Amino acid sequence: MKLRIAPSILAADFARLADAVAAAEAGGADLVHVDVMDGHFVPNLTIGAPVVAALSKATKLPLDVHLMIERPEETIPRYLEAGAQWVSVHVEATAHLQRCLDLIRKGGARAGAAINPATPVEALSAAWADLDYAVVMSVNPGWGGQPFLRPSFDKVRGARAAAQRHRSQASIEVDGGVEAGNAGDLAAAGAEILVAGTAIYGHRDVGAAIRELRSAAQGGVRA
Ligand code: DX5
Ligand code: ZN
Repeated sequence: MKLRIAPSILAADFARLADAVAAAEAGGADLVHVDVMDGHFVPNLTIGAPVVAALSKATKLPLDVHLMIERPEETIPRYLEAGAQWVSVHVEATAHLQRCLDLIRKGGARAGAAINPATPVEALSAAWADLDYAVVMSVNPGWGGQPFLRPSFDKVRGARAAAQRHRSQASIEVDGGVEAGNAGDLAAAGAEILVAGTAIYGHRDVGAAIRELRSAAQGGVRA
């Protein structure tokens, strides 16, 4: 398994995003997680495709664009054109999950599906063949800095088991409240991509925060 650390720039200073992605790159991150919110699917409103395009010019790291938007099928092509290399949509936000995943893959990016804390892993049942990654939300999406929801450990285990049952190579990503204190158990449960906003950008040293998360996760896999 390949462990990836994905700093979420939602917790960075939005007036200094180029500095935030540069710090992630210098600090050894594997991906940059970009939270797109539309003010409908979630109450908060953040950034859209033009900012994703600017970020993709500012870093060599692949952008993991998390679309928390209604009817993502209508705007996925704009995020692909903007340079997103990983794109996830919420199963709760579209009646056309497979069309979304197909659009993303045909656009040359990795396709992900995210499930909210109240959505069971079974919501992904028909999608495993079309998925490169499944995103287990460990907070209700909308804001950074929320406390980790403990039932997410079982959810990650359930997602890992479901992927194996469906003979899927999909990675499991976990997003929300991830920190050094839970990264080991998350990795042990089968999470391979750890998204962290506050734990990384709330830390005085971004590189040290990434190293702490990675070593906590690796400790969990070895245990
Ligand atoms: C939540 C976002 C997360 C968030 C994580 O709606 O999808 O990516 O930025 O931030 P922390 O790590 O602060 O919970
Ligand atoms: Zn996210």
